[in-house]
Amino acid sequence: MARIEAVLQKQELLCLEAAAGPGSFVVFGASGDLAHRKLYPSLFELFRRDLMSRHFYLVGCARSRFERDEFRESVKKTIKLALGNVDQSKLGEFLDGFYYLSGDYADPDTYRQLCKLAAELDEKHNVNGTRIFYLAVPATLYETITEKVGELNLNCPTISGRFQNVRLVIEKPFGQDLESAIELDAKLHKYFDESQVYRIDHYLGKDTVQNLLVFRFANSIFEPVWNRDHIENVQIRVAEKVGIEHRAGYYDKTGALRDMFQNHLLQMLTMVAMEPPPSFEADQVRDEKSKLLRSVRPIDPSRLDRLFVRAQYGPGTVDGLPAKGYRQEDGIDPESLAETFVAAVLYIDNWRWKGVPFYLCTGKRLPRKLTEIIINFKQVPHSMFPQEELELMSANALRFQIQPEEGLYMSLQAKRPGSKICTAALDMAVDYQKVFGVRMPEAYERLLLDCMLGDSTLFTRHDSVIASWELLAPVLKAWKTSGEGLQFYPAGTQGPACPDFPL
Ligand code: BG6
Repeated sequence: MARIEAVLQKQELLCLEAAAGPGSFVVFGASGDLAHRKLYPSLFELFRRDLMSRHFYLVGCARSRFERDEFRESVKKTIKLALGNVDQSKLGEFLDGFYYLSGDYADPDTYRQLCKLAAELDEKHNVNGTRIFYLAVPATLYETITEKVGELNLNCPTISGRFQNVRLVIEKPFGQDLESAIELDAKLHKYFDESQVYRIDHYLGKDTVQNLLVFRFANSIFEPVWNRDHIENVQIRVAEKVGIEHRAGYYDKTGALRDMFQNHLLQMLTMVAMEPPPSFEADQVRDEKSKLLRSVRPIDPSRLDRLFVRAQYGPGTVDGLPAKGYRQEDGIDPESLAETFVAAVLYIDNWRWKGVPFYLCTGKRLPRKLTEIIINFKQVPHSMFPQEELELMSANALRFQIQPEEGLYMSLQAKRPGSKICTAALDMAVDYQKVFGVRMPEAYERLLLDCMLGDSTLFTRHDSVIASWELLAPVLKAWKTSGEGLQFYPAGTQGPACPDFPL
């Protein structure tokens, strides 16, 4: 008993989160949706939990004209909206570090002003250590902003030696295809070394996605069966109830393959299927992820219709109310070929996974929001029970419910109580929130903290980005030139029929 308590105490201590040191943020796109919905509430949460230094300031930069107080007021509103009742004095203290600079992203003068303001604020808030440039702007502006930042040497540790670390955070899309991703990397690397670039895939910030690694590599009982000998297939599904919301301009050029599949789904695939890295060190983890992506069997264009399904939602019913079809949404081309649903089967050509199908699927306007990963094990090789029993017996399955109602489910066979030997399926369920009794942290909190701490494990490295675009190149090429095979499903339904996919 005493030993168990000692272990628990030690685990608690090891779980104490590291706080970030002094630092500053420059947020481009400071008045936009992403900054307001995700960044500010997450930063405040970190500040509130003392995971951020009091030597901190944030300069919001955007084209919209705001006075500093107006900006702070809008951030305050957003935080209250996102987090409900918050400690007013903490919030006031947090907002004391907020400043605003309005300017055109292409105008060198914006950056000269930024330089001047940052120098004043470094002194005023006694900030040194880390400076983070966060690009919460459309990807088309990445080049302009990094170039201007670079031309003024803001990308380098300052001459005074005040900043040892300068980092750049960018959001997907990291290119639109292989060529543009390579081009984007070249542009970023002109001024920022790869070690300075933090590419956010917010799925990696989700606790339940990180749990995949802990589950696999901190338990000894699963790894021996985590392979082609025991696993029949793996399913990764991200179903969304929402449509395209207010993002018609972005989504119509992007589609589900680029918006969700190339990044979130493939990243989850790497977490499920990669080899154990020697340690949780950023590059060792990312080496394995990249290796896994390069092991995915190249997609044969002549078999595309057997390997991929694409579909778009049409008019339907959501929550009992009529819902528009994709082509009727505001700002969408009425003949748009953009897919809002993708299902695919991929194979990983390595010793562990040869021959095991990985079914991946994502769609918008489905009946409910649900992200899950299901590991379907093989049937028992022989049954000592009567044939009918064997047919009724389902194979074991392990289900990671990534969101919402985060949990873990294992389905097993057990004896049904009674005088006969009859089997019954039994579900062992773990509700993450109930077990740990804590609110699940917002993915951005973890990612922002890691970025401040300089831990890039959960950020996508450029070789993974390139490998994923390389993999999808034949699909993008085929879908670009023709609408052939595009199916339609009514909004609010399970998506199109996919007879070849057990989804
Ligand atoms: C984003 C996509 O990356 O992820 C959106 O651009 C999608 O289209 C969103 O809705 C889903 O994220 P989550 O965390 O709600 O599953």
